Amino acid sequence: MFTNTIARPQGTLPLDLFAAIEDLKKELNAVILAHYYQDPDIQDIADFIGDSLQLARAAAQTNADVIVFAGVHFMAETAKILNPDKLVLLPDLDAGCSLADSCPPDQFAAFKAAHPDHLVISYINCTAEIKAMSDIICTSSNAVKIVQQIPADQQIIFAPDRNLGRYVMQQTGRDMVLWQGSCIVHETFSERKIVELKATHPQAEAIAHPECETSVLRHASYIGSTAALLNYCQKSPSQEFIVATEPGIIHQMQKLAPGKHFIPAPPESNCNCNECPFMRLNTLEKLYLSMKNRTPEIVMSEDIRLAALKPMQRMLEMSV
Ligand code: 13P
Ligand code: SF4
Repeated sequence: MFTNTIARPQGTLPLDLFAAIEDLKKELNAVILAHYYQDPDIQDIADFIGDSLQLARAAAQTNADVIVFAGVHFMAETAKILNPDKLVLLPDLDAGCSLADSCPPDQFAAFKAAHPDHLVISYINCTAEIKAMSDIICTSSNAVKIVQQIPADQQIIFAPDRNLGRYVMQQTGRDMVLWQGSCIVHETFSERKIVELKATHPQAEAIAHPECETSVLRHASYIGSTAALLNYCQKSPSQEFIVATEPGIIHQMQKLAPGKHFIPAPPESNCNCNECPFMRLNTLEKLYLSMKNRTPEIVMSEDIRLAALKPMQRMLEMSV
């Protein structure tokens, strides 16, 4: 961790944000949970960094009074579903998710009604309303394991990510009805550029998150959640990796596998669109201000929370 010195023009910001956040953590009895896609500074100040499943587990187990969620809205909502009596803060309330947005509750209710007798398994990257309409929640690290536990004659709706759904179908041999949602970040990776990179870096292993399209996944020697990718880089004898997921994770890869070389998989056009624009809305400054002002806070109706809690609990039971 380094000392972050911010000039005072904003007036309300202290000179040393890291120290000020540490003080607020003690004052509020707060825990900072951060996803691997957050800015390196936020990862460094967090008490716990993880993938969606690890963060949900950490939220379920914390004794803190305040949870500061350095991630996106559905993740902070998940923490609130598990902790109705705690104050859950999200540094920027606009930190949404294209995948969660691709599944509006009214349209999903109609989709469900059109497929009676189907069990609904929803990826955690969805709103509390969609969770409330689901039977079981899953994440990218336990989706295969959960689907494998469902009796073979039970029909399944899988929502909202069609790419993860397709990957789970391949891995399990199960047929599922897929909601056609996707993540703008994971759909941006260029198969052509990955093939070019593999040609110029013949020793590099391509690794990918299952939210990527099949055209990208077929070039990967390993596919897994962010935590699984991080673990794989440390264990693999390879020294170089082409990483097809949001490049925020490379901060941890460099820390945990020092000396290895990580190349972010590029998007087709010359943009930064392999960075999640929602995750990157959170900054150290906003994190500090959210703790200082105890806002923006995640709120939801108790009806939705209780309905969303059930499939969350099923997930936690089925993925021990
Ligand atoms: P995981 O944290 O399960 O790897 O998912 C990645 C993601 O896109 C989170 O939004
Ligand atoms: Fe959503 Fe994709 Fe960003 Fe993850 S990376 S939060 S799925 S938009």
